[in-house]
Amino acid sequence: MARFAQHVERAGYGLHIPPMFEHYEVLARVGESTDIVQKEMYEFEDRGGRRLALRPEGTASVMRAYVEHRPTLPWKVWYVAPNFRAEAPQAGRYRQHHQVGVEAIGTLDPDLDVEVISLLDGFFRDLGLRGYRLRLNSLGDPTSRSQYLEALRAHFDAHAGDLSAQARQTATVNPLRVLDSKREQDAGVIAGAPRMVDYLSDDAGAHFERVQSGLRAVGVAYEMAPLLVRGLDYYTRTTFEFAADSLGAAQNGIGGGGRYDGLAEQMGAPATPGIGFGSGIERTLMACDAEGVFAASTSAVDVFVIDVVDGTHALVLTTELRRAGVRADRAFDQRSMKAQMKQADRSGAAIALIVGEQEAADGTVTLRRMADATQETIPREKVVDAVREGLNR
Ligand code: HAM
Repeated sequence: MARFAQHVERAGYGLHIPPMFEHYEVLARVGESTDIVQKEMYEFEDRGGRRLALRPEGTASVMRAYVEHRPTLPWKVWYVAPNFRAEAPQAGRYRQHHQVGVEAIGTLDPDLDVEVISLLDGFFRDLGLRGYRLRLNSLGDPTSRSQYLEALRAHFDAHAGDLSAQARQTATVNPLRVLDSKREQDAGVIAGAPRMVDYLSDDAGAHFERVQSGLRAVGVAYEMAPLLVRGLDYYTRTTFEFAADSLGAAQNGIGGGGRYDGLAEQMGAPATPGIGFGSGIERTLMACDAEGVFAASTSAVDVFVIDVVDGTHALVLTTELRRAGVRADRAFDQRSMKAQMKQADRSGAAIALIVGEQEAADGTVTLRRMADATQETIPREKVVDAVREGLNR
């Protein structure tokens, strides 16, 4: 999470904390024909008889906050939040999962699509992940969409006999959702279905072209996924998903998102475009584990303070170091020198500061470089500077 925050704040995204639950209608709007809303939402009534639901995803809440508070545009935010979906739990699919994500509201500029996509790609890269693919599609604007829906509906009508009963039913509500079907029986008809990219209006087509050339310009590899529709209703134009090769096909989505240019209007605000992504923390960690990405231990602190007098030196020294911006930790419970040394070793710290009876009496501290076990005794008041120098800061 800290890595994510650092990564997106560098690009001008500020922290936003969406509420855990919302009015049912706010959430229902993002997926009237989707499983996420229709079958998986935890709904309840509060003491005032209001119909509420636990948030199944973050975008609706962020957009509701935008509509209510109208911050200056573009409004770029990030979040880390639990989401709730009553799915059948299995590895990589949970009833409470956690997402890190961003939403950027207020411009239709395709360069923003590139920024958002490459932020997620950069985050995965920073973590050390390599075995994943970016799948890209455009769902067009309302003009292109209605023509495409006609073509899709006609295709499914013509092949109704080969579709599952569920897919036939879905096709009457929203034929796009049929493309999301994982049932084997529907696979053949879906493979032959018309593709959105062939129906894009000039404007949506030019937008999509610019997104692709932008991704190439910043070196983000992608593959076209003409049948990618995603599990929520609000998507328009650019949609994308990152799939990890190391995870099973049903749970390999480690992050996904897209534009939702019509959502603000649906919530009663003037039309305001937006784009974002959500990335599942649990699945991302599973992919990291599968690739052995965290094998090399990363140190959590720079300095470990060992105090075998009474702990007061450790208390004061760690505080001073932290105030000076140095990551520092210590042992508690007045443990033995040996036990504290062991803990210092495990902490991954580059430097151990040791205060024993002798140092306490002399007003000194022993500075030990953990890598080569060399050490020197320095005056107490020079400790912070010596540590900084030792850490090259
Ligand atoms: P989503 O694709 O439904 O999109 O979820 C985003 C990510 O959350 C998935 O790629 C996956 O990593 C993780 N995820 C979803 N459901 C589960 C689950 N049951 N168990 C574990 N992980 C899960 C959204 O939620 C959109 N709000 C993304 C977005 C933001 N689009 C635009 N802005």
